[in-house]
Amino acid sequence: MQLYLGIETSCDDTSCAIYSPERGIVAYRTASQLDHAKYGGVVPEIASRTHMKTLLPLYETVMEEAGIGLGDLAGIGVTNGPGLTGSLLVGLSFAKAVAYGSGLPLAGIHHIEGHILANAIDQPMETPAVVLVVSGGHTQLFNVERPGRYELLGGTRDDAAGEAFDKIGKILGLPYPGGPSIEKAAREGDAAAFKFPRAMRSSGECDFSFSGLKTAVRLKVEELGEMSERTVVDVAASAQEAIVDALALKSVMAVERTKTSRFYIAGGVAANGRLREVMTERIGGAGAVVSWPPIEYCTDNAAMIACAAWHHLSAGRNDGLDLNTFPRGELKSWS
Ligand SMILES: Nc1ncnc2c1ncn2[C@@H]1O[C@H](COP(=O)(O)OP(=O)(O)OP(=O)(O)O)[C@@H](O)[C@H]1O
Ligand SMILES: [Mg+2]
Repeated sequence: MQLYLGIETSCDDTSCAIYSPERGIVAYRTASQLDHAKYGGVVPEIASRTHMKTLLPLYETVMEEAGIGLGDLAGIGVTNGPGLTGSLLVGLSFAKAVAYGSGLPLAGIHHIEGHILANAIDQPMETPAVVLVVSGGHTQLFNVERPGRYELLGGTRDDAAGEAFDKIGKILGLPYPGGPSIEKAAREGDAAAFKFPRAMRSSGECDFSFSGLKTAVRLKVEELGEMSERTVVDVAASAQEAIVDALALKSVMAVERTKTSRFYIAGGVAANGRLREVMTERIGGAGAVVSWPPIEYCTDNAAMIACAAWHHLSAGRNDGLDLNTFPRGELKSWS
């Protein structure tokens, strides 16, 4: 059995996983850093220092749970960007040390490719497909010819969808991170209570913009003044509906343009139940089948990185020990 180690430390989650193409995920652990909640966002220095403390014991636990030693591994994959430099350096330095000590091949993985290939963990990804990546830092539509071949169809001009959820959550005084809090509040609310904008609606491009929505919500909240619990859940539901509607609109456009019959959602916002519901209905209506990763593989995780490592290394693409991190950068094709 081939086994691949994945390491992910691009932001505030420390994660290790062992993936086998024959068996799927053999062992997997993520340690989320809860310290950031009290600051209302990720504090980069706290994130990297916490990775320093957490990564080695997490790796040892995962290897023990898989019942394997270094000699059983076929390769190592590590997220080397985009993300917070200090956080990325902890994971990359660790992965390099393991690769150097064991002689195993190493593959640097683009974090967004990891999110896309989270859809290939439990079953092969059907391609060609359109993939909507919706996370804390990205909102992009890709035409994926096959794993390794990515064409960007469009993306956000300003805020990412997850960032919009987080900022609106903050405006409403909901617990951090805003995404899950808004989803929870929205279940009790009326999505038609407030009319919020759907930017770029008639742009004719597969592009998004969410900063106007955030401002519209802020202005509405200022206008409302003291809000009852009922009003808060109504604003949450209406804002969620505006984000989901904008995502669905451009996703349908991408499906129609590429004439693809397969559609995947990826990234943290793919955990949103309302997004899944609306996409299933509207993408289904455009003639494509929609799916998304299991919920634990939507937000940052090393399972997707270990799976991506198998794709890279089994195709003969690997990196040297001079591999570096990058804070920003588009996903490029490598196959
Ligand atoms: N149920 C949910 N509904 C809406 N948004 C959600 C939900 N669960 C998580 N999110 C959002 O997902 C984002 C986190 O996802 P992810 O971990 O993929 O992002 P990231 O790693 O910070 O950014 P990127 O992947 O772009 O670098 C946060 O913005 C969070 O609010
Ligand atoms: Mg992410």
